Amino acid sequence: MEHLSIVILAAGKGKRMYSSLPKVLHPVGGKPMLQHVIGVAQQLYPQQVIVVYGHGGIQVRAACAEEENVLWVEQPAQLGTGHAVQQVLPVLPSCGKTLVLYGDVPLIQLETLCLLIGEAQQDVGLLTDVLDDPTGYGRIVREQNHIVAIVEEKDCSPAQKVIKEVNTGIMLLPNSHLKTWLGQLSNQNAQGEYYLTDVIAQATHDQISVHGLTTNNHWEVAGVNNKKQLAELERVFQRNQAEKLMEAGVMLADPSRLDIRGTIEHGCDVFIDVNVVLEGNVILGDEVSIGANCLLKDVSIGSGTTIEPFSHLVGATVDQSCKIGPFSRLRPGAELDQHVHVGNFVEIKNSIVGSFSKINHLSYIGDADIGQDCNIGAGTVTCNYDGLNKHRTSIEDKVFIGSGTMLVAPVSISSGATIGAGSVINKPAPANTLTVARARQVSIENWQRPQKKQDKT
Ligand code: UD1
Ligand code: CA
Repeated sequence: MEHLSIVILAAGKGKRMYSSLPKVLHPVGGKPMLQHVIGVAQQLYPQQVIVVYGHGGIQVRAACAEEENVLWVEQPAQLGTGHAVQQVLPVLPSCGKTLVLYGDVPLIQLETLCLLIGEAQQDVGLLTDVLDDPTGYGRIVREQNHIVAIVEEKDCSPAQKVIKEVNTGIMLLPNSHLKTWLGQLSNQNAQGEYYLTDVIAQATHDQISVHGLTTNNHWEVAGVNNKKQLAELERVFQRNQAEKLMEAGVMLADPSRLDIRGTIEHGCDVFIDVNVVLEGNVILGDEVSIGANCLLKDVSIGSGTTIEPFSHLVGATVDQSCKIGPFSRLRPGAELDQHVHVGNFVEIKNSIVGSFSKINHLSYIGDADIGQDCNIGAGTVTCNYDGLNKHRTSIEDKVFIGSGTMLVAPVSISSGATIGAGSVINKPAPANTLTVARARQVSIENWQRPQKKQDKT
């Protein structure tokens, strides 16, 4: 939108968070609250997005360094919301309008802001809420149904205190008047602050209409002042995401027991069981099924693949029709071709596993290239680290590795090779041959177990 500036107030300390992390960096859905607000602001395609920062400024700016087209303005001391907006006056154009948002009100919706902007046109727009318990909020004072002022709770008369319509803080202001109005603010009030809310009375005085828009969703305008409110908004955010997924056809065993901290792409007939956490960028193909208590972060799962319960997948790529888990761990760089089976207590890192290969029990596969149709027996370990360097293990197609085998890398096993159980392999194993590397079994006849010495009495 042309001629629209958006100012996000984010200078407050957030004392009640009891945290060294600045309040606006506390995450909702795995993303700092301030980034949610910057995100929705950018979706309005404004002329500029300005963030007023103060407390924890270095941390706040560093955390949002990747946000493009954001202008940072410092408010060196927090003297009130009006004072905060005063700081941006030098960078505001003299015409156009300014939308004020808050870094600690993370769930404000694009549609609502569009409605507010449409409603206000060239006048003042004010987003309000109606609360059973308006405690703590500025009250909306109306005369003949027109909004004429906002009175902060601490400055309310008894009659004003019972008003249930409250200021959400989100407002749209015409720049042509803003400079004058902000210039006239005084801090002669109960809190000794420069209140942004006083511009409403000034607008009334200057006969500029104030268009109120009342939100339907309390959560959309809810601010975060403590960890309890943060957790409440987290639940709302997660519920909204779960609803979107279900509307798009994903089957969730329980929408209240799925947490998404990132973005999801999915096909048809995906099923997600309870207590699943999805982080980063997750891609789920058609008919993927994710069992209970799994964590998937930055993974791509091919269609028809099943992830059994209690599996932990990070940075892995799994092709179609694989079976992973229960209790499998795929780490970054694990690339599984189609129809691979990975079972319980198997850890795979930085390795390629060819199609139809199976690693079903108790194994560590690190820095390995495994071909197709291999069977890696229980308790196989790729000894990839010599204490200084990592080395690769190469296993060609149709290899059978017996249980309890140590593959001391760098080492290669050629196609069709069989390795006897319990082997320690540190030299190349030839193709289509049985290689065994273990002490031979001997049985000693007439061997006597040691006897316990007689007590000397
Ligand atoms: C403000 C409103 C109140 C409204 C409420 C909604 C004013 C005077 N009051 O009250 O009418 O009902 O929000 O939640 O505006 N901030 C700065 N710099 C400052 C002061 C505040 O950046 O100098 C930021 C804070 O970080 C916070 C936001 O502005 O994100 C609101 O400030 P806060 O002090 O929490 O305002 P309230 O007293 O809640
Ligand atoms: Ca305050």
